[in-house]
Amino acid sequence: MMKKLVLTGAAGRLGSYLREPLSKLCEELVSTDIVDDIGTLYQGERYEKADLAQMSEIAPVIAGADMVVHFGAIGDERPFEVLLGPNFIGAYNVWEAAYQHGVRRVVYASSIHAVGMHKKQDFIGIDAPHRPDTFYGLAKCFAEDLASMYWDKRGLEAVCLRILSAAQVNNPRALGSWLSYDDLIQLVTRAIDTPTTGFSVIYGVSNNDRAPVDNHLASYLGYRPKDNAEQFAEQVLAEAPPADPTDAAQMYHGGPFASVPLGESGVASMNIINDKKEV
Ligand SMILES: NC(=O)c1ccc[n+]([C@@H]2O[C@H](COP(=O)([O-])OP(=O)(O)OC[C@H]3O[C@@H](n4cnc5c(N)ncnc54)[C@H](O)[C@@H]3O)[C@@H](O)[C@H]2O)c1
Repeated sequence: MMKKLVLTGAAGRLGSYLREPLSKLCEELVSTDIVDDIGTLYQGERYEKADLAQMSEIAPVIAGADMVVHFGAIGDERPFEVLLGPNFIGAYNVWEAAYQHGVRRVVYASSIHAVGMHKKQDFIGIDAPHRPDTFYGLAKCFAEDLASMYWDKRGLEAVCLRILSAAQVNNPRALGSWLSYDDLIQLVTRAIDTPTTGFSVIYGVSNNDRAPVDNHLASYLGYRPKDNAEQFAEQVLAEAPPADPTDAAQMYHGGPFASVPLGESGVASMNIINDKKEV
C-alpha cells in the first residue's frame, strides 16, 4: 500500500467524491485546498491549507508523497491574469515540487477544453492535437505539456484525465459528455494503480452511447466505464429548447466554452448542480 497520497482541490466538488476512495488506497491521504478547513475527515486523512500559486506553501504538503492527484484549480474561464496563479503557476509548482521530492506520478484533472475547438464531427482520440477553447483550456494544455516534459526529461510519470462533464445530466450535450462520479472514481483509481504509465492521456467520460471521444489508444490503463447517460436521454431531449445548428456551443467539443468570449465564464450558462458529497 502507498504511504502518502496528496489530493489537491480537496474542497471542490470532484474532490468531495474522491477523498473517501483515495483514503483507502494509502496509509495517509493529505487533502489540500485554499479554504480554511474541509469539515469531518475520513480515516487516515489529514487536511493542509495551501495556495497552489505559492511554492513555499504547496511544496511542504507534497514532500514525502508517493503520488499527487492534482484537481485544484479555478474550474471555469476567467481573464488570463486570474488563472495565471492557480492554474498555470499552480501546475508548475505541483510538478516541480513533485520532482524535487521524488514523487513517482502526478494524476491530473485536465479537461476536454484542452481540445475544445475540434469539431463535434471529429471523433477525436487521445492523440488529437491541442486546440484550446479558452484561457482555461490553454492552462490545461500547458499542464499536459509540462507533464509530458517532466516525463521525458525527469522521469516523473503523469496521467492526464481529460474530463468532459462530471455533473448531473441536464442538457443534450451531457448525453455524450457525462462522467458519472462512480466512473470518475474508477478512472482515478486506474490512473493510480496501473503499474507503469509514463506520460498518459485519457478522456474522462462514461460509457455513453453518444460519447464524442475515443479512448482506445488508452486501453492499457484498464479504464472500463460502467454508466451510460442514455438513461436520461428521453427526458433531457423532451425538455431541451430547439437546437441552433449554427451555434458554436453545439458544433465544437468544448460546448459553451467554444462560444463564450475569452475571459468570460463558460460554466455560467451550464446550470451545473452543486451536488457535492457530504461526509
Ligand atoms: N467538474 C467537471 O466536469 C470538470 C471537467 C473538466 C475538468 N475539471 C477539473 O477538475 C478539477 C476539479 O473540478 P471541480 O468541478 O471539483 O471544481 P471545484 O471548483 O469544485 O474545485 C476546485 C478546487 O480547487 C481549489 N482551488 C482554486 N484555486 C486554488 C488555489 N490557488 N490553491 C489551492 N486550491 C485552489 C478550490 O478552492 C476548489 O475547492 C479542476 O481542475 C477542473 O478544472 C472538472
